[in-house]
Amino acid sequence: MRKHPIVQMLSIGAVASLIGIAVVLNIDWFPKSADTAAHPIDTLYDVLLICSVPIFVLVMTVAIYSVVKFRARPGDMSDGAPIHGNTRLEVVWVTIPFLMVTALAVYGWVVLNNVEAKKPDERTINVVAQQFAWHFQYAKNGNGDPGPCGGSGPNQVTTNELELKDNQAVHFKICSKDVIHSFWVPEFRLKEDAVPGKTTEIRLRPNRLGNYTVVCTELCGLGHSTMRAPVHVVSGAQFVAWLRKQGQPAPQAGGGGGGGGGGGANAVGKQVFTANGCGGCHTLADAGSNGTVGPDLNKLVADAAKYGKQQGESPSQYVKDSIVDPEKFVVPGFPKGVMPSTFGQQLSPQQIDALVKYLLSVGKG
Ligand code: CUA
Repeated sequence: MRKHPIVQMLSIGAVASLIGIAVVLNIDWFPKSADTAAHPIDTLYDVLLICSVPIFVLVMTVAIYSVVKFRARPGDMSDGAPIHGNTRLEVVWVTIPFLMVTALAVYGWVVLNNVEAKKPDERTINVVAQQFAWHFQYAKNGNGDPGPCGGSGPNQVTTNELELKDNQAVHFKICSKDVIHSFWVPEFRLKEDAVPGKTTEIRLRPNRLGNYTVVCTELCGLGHSTMRAPVHVVSGAQFVAWLRKQGQPAPQAGGGGGGGGGGGANAVGKQVFTANGCGGCHTLADAGSNGTVGPDLNKLVADAAKYGKQQGESPSQYVKDSIVDPEKFVVPGFPKGVMPSTFGQQLSPQQIDALVKYLLSVGKG
C-alpha cells in the first residue's frame, strides 16, 4: 500500500531529524568550560541546535522530494499547473517560525541577563586592546576599581597577562586604543568587542584552575592572529601574592644590559617594551617575546647600523624614528602600515629614550 506523499515526507523528515540531532549533539562545539556562564550558554546552544535541525531537514526534504517527484519527464515542454498561493500554508509557515524565533530570543535574553548580572563580590579589571596586544589593569588594593579603562592612576597596575582568582566574579571593562578588537577566552564562552571611543563590559566567574588564552576575534590588521595573551585562573592565595608582586617596582633587568649602571634605565625601557605590547609583533629574547609580525629585535644593533647608515642617521636616531614615525622607513621584507604610528603620542620623551637605549643594549644577537 502506497502512503500519501505528505506522510512519506514527514516520516523521512522525522528520521533524518533524529539522526541529525544525534550527530550535532555529539559534536564538541566548544572547549571544556572554565566559568559559570559556560553551562547555561552551552545548554542554550544545544537548544538552538535541536530547533535548527528539524527546520533544515524540513526545508531540504521538501526541496529534494519535489525535485525528484515532480521533475519534468523527458520531452515534456508544457507549462506547470497555474497555482496562486495557499493562504493556509502561508499563515502556518510565517506563524511557526515567528513563534520559534521569538521564544528563542527571549530565552537567549534571559540567559544573557543572568550571566551579566552584577555580582556582590566582583573585582573590576580593565582590558585594553591595541594592535596587536592586550593589557590588563588592576586596582592594587582590595577589590577596588582600577579607574577608567586605558587610563592611569597611582592605585593601578598594568600587566600583559590576565590573572584571575578562582571562583571570584570579574567585571571586565573593555576598551581599545586604535581599531575594533574583540575579547574572547573560548573556555569562558562570552565575547565582547573592544570599540575605540567607548567602554564595553562583560561579567563572568572563572571556576576551573588552569591556563587559557585570550584571543582577538575581530580582524584588526596584519598582526590579528598574533594578538593573544595568557590567562591564569589561580587560587586566592596565589592571586594575592601575584597582585602584590605586580604592584612592586620592576625588578632590575638581569643579564641583558651592558653593565656599568645601565640596569636602572634598562628596567624602565623593558617595562615600556612589555607594557606597550611591542612583544606582540617583535621577537626579543631579553623580554621573552617571539612575535614575527615585525622585524626581529634581537638583530636590532646590526639592523640599526646598516639601515641607519642608509638613512644617514645614527643607530639611536634610527631606532627612535622607527618607533615614532614607523612609515618613514620600513625594513625590507616587512609590510608597510602595520606598526602603529601612535607611540610618539602615547609615550613620553623619557620613555622613548629609555626604550631606545634598552633595545640597543639587548638587541645584539
Ligand atoms: Cu585585535 Cu584582531
